[in-house]
Amino acid sequence: PRIVVLISGSGSNMAAIADAVKQGDIDAEISAVICNRPEAPGLQKAKDRDIETQVIDHKEFASREDFDVALMRCIDDYQPDLVVLAGFMRILTADFVIRYHGRMLNIHPSLLPKYQGLNTHQRALDAGDEQHGVTVHFVTEELDGGPNVIQAVIPVYDGDDAISLQQRVHSQEHVIYPIAVKWFVNGRLTMKGNDALLDGNIL
Ligand code: GRF
Repeated sequence: PRIVVLISGSGSNMAAIADAVKQGDIDAEISAVICNRPEAPGLQKAKDRDIETQVIDHKEFASREDFDVALMRCIDDYQPDLVVLAGFMRILTADFVIRYHGRMLNIHPSLLPKYQGLNTHQRALDAGDEQHGVTVHFVTEELDGGPNVIQAVIPVYDGDDAISLQQRVHSQEHVIYPIAVKWFVNGRLTMKGNDALLDGNIL
């Protein structure tokens, strides 16, 4: 199977997945890493791993629609089986989401359905939550609203701040995202209606 990974920033989740591919843990190929920010540090992480990179700078497009069309063309050049959003910080148009229906995953730093959108760590603190975490989910038209695939839960300690939470969540991301990708490329993970299924069972 072929995977295309979309990033905007540090690319540490992309690197975790790429390393799992290299170790033979995930039986797939990362055909390309596509990034919307030319200065994103994740681009170098991809190059260090001999992965092809493409930059599509959203600032060069007049509209979200134009950007998404260019992005779709670039993705489709690689004919991927799976599109992995790994810190890709752009809201996608409905056409884009529909095109990769059932074959696009995202990672979101909260225990979805809690805290869709931004500032998830601070919001968990402000709410006094005792637990926080991260979710891999299929992407549907609802932002951060697609069916959950896998979550990692971390405790919130006295004295935690948004940065300490973010760091502990981030290290869990690198554990669960490769697992979800592995399930998908092994044909175990599918989306049916608004459910994620593992081996045919609703997650
Ligand atoms: C992560 O916090 C992820 O949950 C969010 O974007 C960040 C990506 O980090 N969606 P990285 O670029 O993979 O290091």
